[in-house]
Amino acid sequence: MSISESLETALNDQIGIEFESSYNYLSMAAYFEVNSWDGFANWMHMQSDEEREHAMKFYHYLLDRGRDVVLPAIQAPTVEFDSVLSVFEASLKQEQHATSTINRLYKLALESDDYATVSFLKWFIDEQVEEEKTVSGMIDKLKRAGDNPETLLLLDQVAAARKPDSGN
Ligand SMILES: [Fe+2]
Ligand SMILES: [Fe+2]
Repeated sequence: MSISESLETALNDQIGIEFESSYNYLSMAAYFEVNSWDGFANWMHMQSDEEREHAMKFYHYLLDRGRDVVLPAIQAPTVEFDSVLSVFEASLKQEQHATSTINRLYKLALESDDYATVSFLKWFIDEQVEEEKTVSGMIDKLKRAGDNPETLLLLDQVAAARKPDSGN
């Protein structure tokens, strides 16, 4: 059974959303580098790479199912941020948006009786839980730190120690 046309379009749209996320994270990394938050920059580079890997999963999946990859246009990212916290809050918003589009895809796959796509999307459903949890944890810590420079520096070091996830 081949992928329906509406699902094919939605999967291509998701490639754009993942690349847009990757691009946004890269812009956040640049903001942190300019402001010498090397650890937070490392965190955002890692996020950016992960989102590109997500996009490529959709890319390969479409090709594996014999459908066309039609890359959509993506928007330019935000370049100005007010604080470390505001960057992570923007990151959470982005992840919540990604969760909603993945959920919509899942619903569409179910309604199309496309169980291969349902199965493929399960990894993303789980990944989004992880993504939202990780960034929410950092937001909690940043809120507790407030403007305390020593605590912020400590959190920057925590972010510096973050290693690329396996299993992506
Ligand atoms: Fe993603
Ligand atoms: Fe993500």
